Amino acid sequence: MKIIYFSQTGNTEKMANLILQGIESEGKKAELIEVSSASIDDVINEEIIILGCSAYGSEELDDSEMEPFVESLARKIQGKKVALFGSWGWGNGEWMTEWEKRMESYGAILISEGLTVQESPEGEDEDRCISFGKLIAK
Ligand SMILES: Cc1cc2nc3c(=O)[nH]c(=O)nc-3n(C[C@H](O)[C@H](O)[C@H](O)COP(=O)(O)O)c2cc1C
Repeated sequence: MKIIYFSQTGNTEKMANLILQGIESEGKKAELIEVSSASIDDVINEEIIILGCSAYGSEELDDSEMEPFVESLARKIQGKKVALFGSWGWGNGEWMTEWEKRMESYGAILISEGLTVQESPEGEDEDRCISFGKLIAK
């Protein structure tokens, strides 16, 4: 499994690390990759793809790195299981619902609803991230 993420200030990165912790607690392995270092080869042979990106622009994905990467997945991820996550600040979560619809339009199968956390995951939100990782690993 690969966890490919974008994080400007570290909030989504913290989520990624907690999700990894959940996956590993189920005895599975995953690799964390910043999207700036990721390529299509990182997903092509994976059965499960985990993508994280915080809300930017106006309820959008980061347009410098994550947006072009997601665009490159079109027609490449039919039938693959995908899990989405990310941190947000003040919006209504629309970036995540749009992202979910887009991945489904690419033929991906969403493992669950996207996991969203406001700003940095703390307390219960940390537990939600770990549980999300466990769910993906099962
Ligand atoms: C330029 C800019 C645009 C943002 N746009 C949104 C937005 O549209 N909706 C939202 O909920 N949060 C928005 N945020 C807040 C970030 O999504 C939030 O701070 C998040 O925790 C950042 O996570 P990261 O450190 O993983 O990048 C924006 C932040 C910045 C700096």
